[in-house]
Order: sequence, then C-alpha cells, then structure tokens
Amino acid sequence: MKPFLPLALAAAIAAGTACGSSQKPPSRAEGDKTPAKTWTIGVSQCNLGEPWRVQMNQDIRNEADLHPQLRVIFKDAQNDSLRQRAHIEEFVGAGADVIIVSPKEAAPLTQPVAAAYDKGIPVIVLDRRVLGDRYTCFIGADNKAIGKAAGEWIVRRLGGKGRVVELEGLMTSTPGQNRHTGFREGIRESKIEIVFEADMKWLEPDARREMESALARFAGIDLVYAHNDPGARGAYLAAKAAGREKSMAFVGIDALPYEGQAYVRQGLLEASFEYPTGGKEAVLAVLDILNGKKAAKEIVLPSRVFTRDNIDRGGDWLANKGNSVE
Ligand code: FRU
Repeated sequence: MKPFLPLALAAAIAAGTACGSSQKPPSRAEGDKTPAKTWTIGVSQCNLGEPWRVQMNQDIRNEADLHPQLRVIFKDAQNDSLRQRAHIEEFVGAGADVIIVSPKEAAPLTQPVAAAYDKGIPVIVLDRRVLGDRYTCFIGADNKAIGKAAGEWIVRRLGGKGRVVELEGLMTSTPGQNRHTGFREGIRESKIEIVFEADMKWLEPDARREMESALARFAGIDLVYAHNDPGARGAYLAAKAAGREKSMAFVGIDALPYEGQAYVRQGLLEASFEYPTGGKEAVLAVLDILNGKKAAKEIVLPSRVFTRDNIDRGGDWLANKGNSVE
C-alpha cells in the first residue's frame, strides 16, 4: 500500500484528541501561502456487498466532501475479519489521523482497535461494536431498543399470539445479539411462540435457504421477524416460491429509502425499523476530535418505524430518540 502524504502533526494531534482533550490544530497566520493541513481518515468497512454499507460509505463521503481539509481512504474487508484487522494495522502504520471502523465481528477487531487507540490515534467505531472500551467514540442506533420495539409491534399486530420465525443477523456481531435479546424482551408477556430460529448472517440468500427449511417443517407460520431487510426479503421470496407469502407477514430492519421503505410501499414488508448508517455523524465526530472538542464516548442515533399506515408521512419515531448531534 502507498503510504499517506507526510502527516507531520498526526501523532501530536492524535495523542491529544481522545475524548476530553482540548488540543487544537495550529491556526494559520494571515497571508500564509503554505497549503492547509490535510487530515487523513482511514475507513474500514466490513463489506460492500450489502446496500446498507454502500450507503454508509456514501454518507461518509457526502459529509467529508463538505470539508476540504479531510481526505478519506476507504477499504473494504469483504466480510473477512482477518482482512479487517489488517486494515487497522495498515492505517496505523501509514499514519492516518483518525480511523473509522465498522467491524464485522466484535472479538476479532477488539485488539487492533485497542492498539491503535493506545497509540493515540482516535478510533470511531460505527454500527457494530468491539469489546471493552478502548476506542474513542462509538456511534450507532440502539439495537436492543429497536428489537424490543419490533417485538412489541409484532405482539400488537398478531393480537398477542401466533407462530413466528426469527431470522437472525450474524450472532457474533453485536447488532444481531441485541436485536435478538430486545425482541425476546418485547414479546415476553405475550403468547407468541418462536417456532423456528436461525442465523442468516445478514444475507438474503442465507435467509431464503433458512426460510425454505422453516416452511418445510411448519404448516402454520404467522410472521417472520428478520434482523435486516435483506433477510426479510429472502424469507418473503422463499414463501412466495412456496405460494405461502399471503398467509404470513414480514418485518425487517434498516429501512433504507430504496430498500426496506420501498418494500413496505410495495406491500412486501408490513414494517421496517430504521437503522441509520451514522456515516454523517462519524465525520462530524472526526471534525470535533480534530478541532480538540470533547467527543461523546457514545452517540446513540434515533430510529423510526415505517409501516403501510405511516410511510407516506415519514414513519414514526421510536421512543428512544438517541443523543445524536442532530
Ligand atoms: C449490513 C447490515 C445491515 C444491518 C447492519 C448491522 O451489513 O447487515 O443490514 O442493519 O449490518 O450491523
């Protein structure tokens, strides 16, 4: 990999910018003709095979483009945790000023993130978490609250009882774990029975395959709760192929305008819960850090639910409105 431009101030600034410090980049004297300092942000994205992740990179790009002093280097880990670990080490070695990482899995990314942070390089962890607290700032929506809201919505939709299939996101990633525990909490007081549960690893083809097994085993399924919209669509396609899609409802998470929200409009999903990418907020946090402002350790993004009834008026906010900067 080609090293970054010489970043003379990187170490000094980075060392002083982890949460709570107030070191500022030097201001430029009037008439100073030397080019303004450029800050390099290394972004490690866990994959670009899913539309939501392409959108996250786009959101980062759109906000960064408004700030000419920022230079962004994107890397795609292609859903490989080892490759993603190497990204972090490469960014550190090349002298990145800040790292943004959206990890595939918590455990494998924890050590390289902590090592970068301990070296004084601010690390923003986006969407999926790492373990422990050796990072600068975590940004994401509250997956447990989203799972719980989905559970409560499903209880209301089914009148308190019914047979449900749960198609889980990767259970070694924190959103999968939290969307599961939140959901189970949301349905706890009801008579809903989970007849089939499988890890579809966030992937539509896996969800479709798992749903084929569920359909083969259970004659009566009332609803499918999938941890993301590609999973919900995979389940819908399996049910449609079996001629059973009209006898059950499908609920997903993400609600991208051209994905989950479009599926709700098309009648394929009954509900989709928004999971904002946080790309814009990550760049705003980077600017705060580089400007020596105190970045919150945790930025919680708000989320909406989109249903057939509310989609034309922009969905409804969930109770947890988060603490994001907007
Ligand atoms: C994309 C994705 C989204 C999901 C998020 C959770 O990779 O699977 O669909 O909401 O990751 O981290």
